[in-house]
Amino acid sequence: MAVFHKLKVKDVYKETSDCSVIAFDIPESLYEEFEFKQGQHLTLKTEIDGEDVRRSYSLCTSPMDREWKVAVKLIPEGKFSSFVNTTLKPGDTLEVMAPSGTFGVKPNPEKPKNYLFFAAGSGITPIISMIKTHLATEPNSTCKLFYVNRTAKSIIFKEELEQLRNAYFGRLEIYYFLTKERRDIELFNGRFDDDRMAVLCKTFIDIPDTSEVFLCGPEEMVKYVGNYLVEAGLPKELVHFELFVTGLSEEDKLRAERLAQQNVEGVEVTIVDGGKEFHFTMTSDYDNILDAALGAGADLPFACKGGVCSTCKCKILEGEVEMKVNYALEAHEVAQDYVLSCQAVPVTDEVKVDFDV
Ligand code: FES
Repeated sequence: MAVFHKLKVKDVYKETSDCSVIAFDIPESLYEEFEFKQGQHLTLKTEIDGEDVRRSYSLCTSPMDREWKVAVKLIPEGKFSSFVNTTLKPGDTLEVMAPSGTFGVKPNPEKPKNYLFFAAGSGITPIISMIKTHLATEPNSTCKLFYVNRTAKSIIFKEELEQLRNAYFGRLEIYYFLTKERRDIELFNGRFDDDRMAVLCKTFIDIPDTSEVFLCGPEEMVKYVGNYLVEAGLPKELVHFELFVTGLSEEDKLRAERLAQQNVEGVEVTIVDGGKEFHFTMTSDYDNILDAALGAGADLPFACKGGVCSTCKCKILEGEVEMKVNYALEAHEVAQDYVLSCQAVPVTDEVKVDFDV
C-alpha cells in the first residue's frame, strides 16, 4: 500500500538562493515507521493546480539526529520544486511516505573504512547524511568529499560541511570544484575529466586503500567517475551511485524501443501487497506493471515513474519481466529478482510480484 502520512512542515528555509530545506514534524506515533538509514529518501506528495504531484528527495540529516529534513533544489519549470521554493511555509502539511531506498552501507564501528564521495549540486543531500553518520558512528573511518558546484555561493550545505570538517578534524577532507567561477588553483576549476581525475588519483585518492565510493549527481558525471575509478583498479562492487537522469542513453533507448513492441495484452498479473493478493489481466493500454496495476485499481507506492527513485520496487515471485531502464537498483538487487515496477514489462504470460519485501 502506498501509505502517505500527513506531516506538518516544521520549518522551510533557504539553504542557497535556489535550494530550500524542509524540516518535518514527525509525531511520536510515527517515530518507528519513520526511522531511516543514511542515504534514504522521502517521497512527498501534494496537489498543485489540481494535479497529484509526487517527488522523492533524499534526507540530508543523519539517523542519529532524529530530525527529518530534505533539500529541494529549484529546477526550471519543476512543479514541485517551484512550489517548495516559493509557496510552502512552516505550518503547512505535505503527504509523506516513510523513508525508503538502499543507497548506503551499514556503519560498523569495529571496522574502520576509507570512504570517497563524489557529488554535484543537490547530489550532496544523501552524501552529507552518510558523511555525518559514518564519522559519528565509526571512530576510525575517514571520508573524502569531491564536490562540484557552479559558484561558491551555490554550494549547498557549505557551512555544515565546514563545521563537520572542524568537528572531525583530520577525518574529513573536502575538495570543492567550481564550474562557473575561477579560482587560483586550476585543478579546482571545472568538472571531473581525465586530467583532473588523473591528478586526484595521484594526489588525494589511494585506490587500494579505498573501502567504498558513493556518487550522486547527473548521470553523465556519475557514470564517468565510476568507470574511471573501476578502470583505475577499484573493484566495481565498491562503487555505489544515485543519479539524476537527463536523457536516455543509446542502449536504454534501444531497449525501451524493443520492449515497446512486447505484446502484454492478456498477461495475468498477481500483485502481493499488504499480505493480500490482487489479480488483473493486462491490456495493451499500459506497458508496465505499475501503471497497469494502478489502472486496475491497486494502491501502490511510486514517485518518479522514471526508474530513478526505487519507490516502486518489488520482487518477482513468478514469471519474468524486463526493465526498460534501471537507474536505481544495484546489480545484487537485480540478481535477487528485484525490479522497478514502473519499468517492468512482462515477458511471460503470467507474472507474480511482491510489494511487501
Ligand atoms: S516510481 Fe521511481 S523508480 Fe519507479
